[in-house]
Amino acid sequence: MSEKIKVAVVFGGLSSEHDVSVLTGLEVLEALNPAKYEGFPVYVGLDGQWWVGDALRNRANYIPDAATKRSLTRVSLNVGAAYEGGRWLLREVGGGGLLSKPKTFAFDMLIPALHGTWGEDGTLQGVLAAEKIPFAGGGVDAMALTIHKMWTLGAANQAGLPTPPTMFVSKQDDLDDKLDSWRGDYPVFVKPNYLGSSIGARVAKTPDDARAALTEVFRLDHAALVQRCIPNLIEYNVAVRRRADGTVVTSAIERPLRKDESYTFKDKYLSGDMASKLSGGSNPGLVNATRVINPPELEDGRAAQVRAWAVALFEALDLAGAPRLDFLCNEQTGEIWFNEVNPLPGSFGYFLWEAATPSVGYSELLDDMLVEARARVRNRVRVIDPVANGGAIFPKRGV
Ligand SMILES: Nc1ncnc2c1ncn2[C@@H]1O[C@H](COP(=O)(O)OP(=O)(O)O)[C@@H](O)[C@H]1O
Ligand SMILES: [Mg+2]
Repeated sequence: MSEKIKVAVVFGGLSSEHDVSVLTGLEVLEALNPAKYEGFPVYVGLDGQWWVGDALRNRANYIPDAATKRSLTRVSLNVGAAYEGGRWLLREVGGGGLLSKPKTFAFDMLIPALHGTWGEDGTLQGVLAAEKIPFAGGGVDAMALTIHKMWTLGAANQAGLPTPPTMFVSKQDDLDDKLDSWRGDYPVFVKPNYLGSSIGARVAKTPDDARAALTEVFRLDHAALVQRCIPNLIEYNVAVRRRADGTVVTSAIERPLRKDESYTFKDKYLSGDMASKLSGGSNPGLVNATRVINPPELEDGRAAQVRAWAVALFEALDLAGAPRLDFLCNEQTGEIWFNEVNPLPGSFGYFLWEAATPSVGYSELLDDMLVEARARVRNRVRVIDPVANGGAIFPKRGV
């Protein structure tokens, strides 16, 4: 009799995308194949505390109040002491007494379902990698690189993808000097380097306006980008993943619909997009409330180009899981530029995979991500730091 694989699904977190992450985490718990996996929720509160407990499975309990928390157990993942008996343990914080031990919660694998900083940026991945925990999605290096929009643009350039002219501005820079050095035209697009969800991102028509926009960004982030503003903007997104047989495949392409000129958080997440369950289907041009799936206008060869670029960057950055790569397009000229990588898109972008040819269900997507996680941790563990000839200094007694 084989036991089910115990999967810790970690969500919530310290970023502005906390709430979206809760939705992603709860969806993952529902979508995991129950014949193979036993998932359990690990909720990271807005204060960074980790909690486990069945009340966390119920959407109505968010954000957990004091009464709900009394039914939960606060836990920690202790680096250097998490691995025990062939599994990893979350340990009760402050639990146990003279005669009892703190409660433990064992798991075999982990799915980070955290968006934004402190989760989608390599920080959590670093802790997990240090403990050799098999976890879904990109590794420390890919996550840390892609949270940095400027570095991602540089890597994309190197991989042969076109990117809009962009200037990196740090909070310490003299804004007047920096803006004087901008050789591009106005308007420009100003956005935070690290933050997502379109927070603080906007068009600036003049250098004065750009200075004001940068000042706003620096209240939220410590670096920003000034970028050529793409006129007549439409956007295309495509997800990429590596199948178990090693082949890299792309999902359906989506063109998100834009109602107006605003790029606000509300626009992106609260206009029915996350709330409604989205079903794609592989029909070209299929429209739902918020997106066009496989937009027919790209069938002039640009769909194949976008897919080829997405695969090239996926491979160049050693991405994993089901990252979504986003592109900007000038609708009038048809020109397309790479914009950014979302290594852990909301809902893992499952609707893009359901709409792919062949269609991939959410359970199958997660299963493949976990199989990949196992393989990746095995590969990492095989790399043993070699000691050069004569490099050993101490006798390895009893090792
Ligand atoms: N250079 C640009 N020109 C015009 N619009 C842009 C440009 N860059 C980004 N945008 C718009 O702003 C949105 C958010 O920017 P993006 O780079 O995707 O950051 P994030 O999604 O992490 O907030 C994009 O989806 C797009 O609508
Ligand atoms: Mg974006």
